[in-house]
Amino acid sequence: MRSQYCGEVTQQHLDQTVTLCGWVNRRRDHGGVIFVDLRDRAGLVQVVFDPDREQIFQLAEQIRNEYVLQVEGRVRLRPEGTENADLTTGVVEVLATGLTVLNAAETPPFQLDDEDVNEEARLRYRYIDLRRSVMQDNMRMRVKVVSALRQYLDAQGFMDIETPMLTKATPEGARDYLVPSRTHEGAFFALPQSPQIFKQLLMMSGFDRYYQVVRCFRDEDLRADRQPEFTQLDIETSFMGEQDIMPMMEAMIRQTFKDTLGVELPDPFPRMAYAEAMQRYGSDKPDLRIALELVDITDLMSAVEFKVFSGPANDAKGRVAVLKLPQGSALTRKEIDDYTKFVANYGAKGLAYIKINALAKGRDGLQSPILKFLPDDVVTQIMQRTQVEDGDLLFFGADKASVVNDALGALRVKLGIDQDLLQAEWAPLWVVDFPMFEWDEKDSRWNALHHPFTAPNFDQAQQLLEQPGESLSQAYDMVLNGTEVGGGSVRIHRQDMQKAVFEVLNISQQEAEDKFGFLLNALKYGCPPHAGIAFGLDRLIMLMTGSDSIRDVMAFPKTQTAMCPLTDAPAAVSERQLKELSLRLRAKAKQSA
Ligand code: AMO
Ligand code: AMP
Repeated sequence: MRSQYCGEVTQQHLDQTVTLCGWVNRRRDHGGVIFVDLRDRAGLVQVVFDPDREQIFQLAEQIRNEYVLQVEGRVRLRPEGTENADLTTGVVEVLATGLTVLNAAETPPFQLDDEDVNEEARLRYRYIDLRRSVMQDNMRMRVKVVSALRQYLDAQGFMDIETPMLTKATPEGARDYLVPSRTHEGAFFALPQSPQIFKQLLMMSGFDRYYQVVRCFRDEDLRADRQPEFTQLDIETSFMGEQDIMPMMEAMIRQTFKDTLGVELPDPFPRMAYAEAMQRYGSDKPDLRIALELVDITDLMSAVEFKVFSGPANDAKGRVAVLKLPQGSALTRKEIDDYTKFVANYGAKGLAYIKINALAKGRDGLQSPILKFLPDDVVTQIMQRTQVEDGDLLFFGADKASVVNDALGALRVKLGIDQDLLQAEWAPLWVVDFPMFEWDEKDSRWNALHHPFTAPNFDQAQQLLEQPGESLSQAYDMVLNGTEVGGGSVRIHRQDMQKAVFEVLNISQQEAEDKFGFLLNALKYGCPPHAGIAFGLDRLIMLMTGSDSIRDVMAFPKTQTAMCPLTDAPAAVSERQLKELSLRLRAKAKQSA
């Protein structure tokens, strides 16, 4: 139906007759001449209808935005001064000699160039929203990135193998999406939270290198970088340890950035231990584009009178830390109040500060609501440790270490963005040496920080059982600009160690048998040492396209409440379907809005 894409008509086609198909992006009437910007996936071209060709001119008068047209015309130069440098087609236009309206369109629910459309409307009319050039570009980038990743992995001998969607619960720590079985009354499949167990089994089967671009399902609280169904680039290798797989994976990411964005990422990526990341950045996914750091002053605070500080300083789980904002004393009272409200979202009970007006004047040169509580030597040591200069501002956090880390960690990133302190465009790193387990105060039990198949750094199962809190894991997260884009680990390949981990996690032998018996069994029949990783593809592409949310790089995402306004899923089902599945509802499903 066409000779080329609208967006690809250039000077090279001067005086040629072209046939184009596309949507009316805009129609303008100009003193007897009608201009139509015709749009397709490659871009826009200006089509001109002049009144000399009466028949098609009359037809052109009737067309509206988003009509679908076929236009035949001659390519000519635009008159001098009317070129549009923003368009690849900007020096030419097509003088229409033929016009077919392939389909009329009702007035769309929103204008494509309106930047303030609410997300509900965008998702309800996603097919229109996806016509916008940003969305077209995002989807195109997604295609490029996936293609580059596949090329790399194919070249390294990885095999793309599919794993089941109807399966059993997988242990990634979120709630499962369940699917009732018709043929097995009362039994349910779970949709995979990841292909974790299957990819490990594939290593036991000898495939050696596996990958899959695969949908994962997790019923968890949604955020800008979390969706109930999302895509992983899932990878597993045999006979590779941490020191083999990490360089290979970062080379893949480097190559992909180079091929798709022309960006050279550092080689190698820096590595940082989890403990150091928490200490210096209050986060296990530090944004290293920002140079601000937390400075620990817990030791200085144990004897001060100020209970807000001495309390946490004398608590084994407490922490007192400072965040220095260079030249931050210019912040207004209102700005400081706003930051205080911001940290309250992370559980902080306040945000004490000291403004350094003139260091040389000692106490008189400092301005702070807490100065009166701090003795001279403590003040001096704080100033030395934070290496302040005149004009700087210090923010303080004192609480349980987890609260201080969350609050000052988030404040650090917010200040970095608000105050324009980003020092690089891209800052990747590996976070390593995670604790194997995390103590859950509420339920008085150990939880796995990664998943329970992750290998500890201890060699002996006995040692793990005796000192679970001391063990680090052989896990690694790839962090980019403060977002965890990937995570993986060396896996346990010995049955005794796997059993010990279940024991620490208080998973009984029976439960382990019920849940993962097939994996435990497989460990008996010749399991190679293996290691893997999974990348959050949506997150990676969100960063690469500069999008604020992963929803902007997915064609048909869910809302924040995990529903789809386009299809109105999830929806009630008929009584007959329920009966077939041997299900009876406890409460009638609310009719979806
Ligand atoms: P993990 O649970 O860390 O590891 O997931 C891997 C990566 O997937 C992305 N991700 C998500 N993206 C969007 N929405 C979500 N709800 C979501 N949850 C996770 C993150 C994360 O880094 N089986 C292991 C991997 C392994 O050990 O090989 C796993 O799934 O970017
Ligand atoms: P108050 O004595 O409660 O008025 O607090 C004095 C200063 O300490 C105020 O600036 C508070 O914002 C701050 N503050 C209170 N609690 C904390 C805390 N847990 N961490 C850091 N600053 C705090």
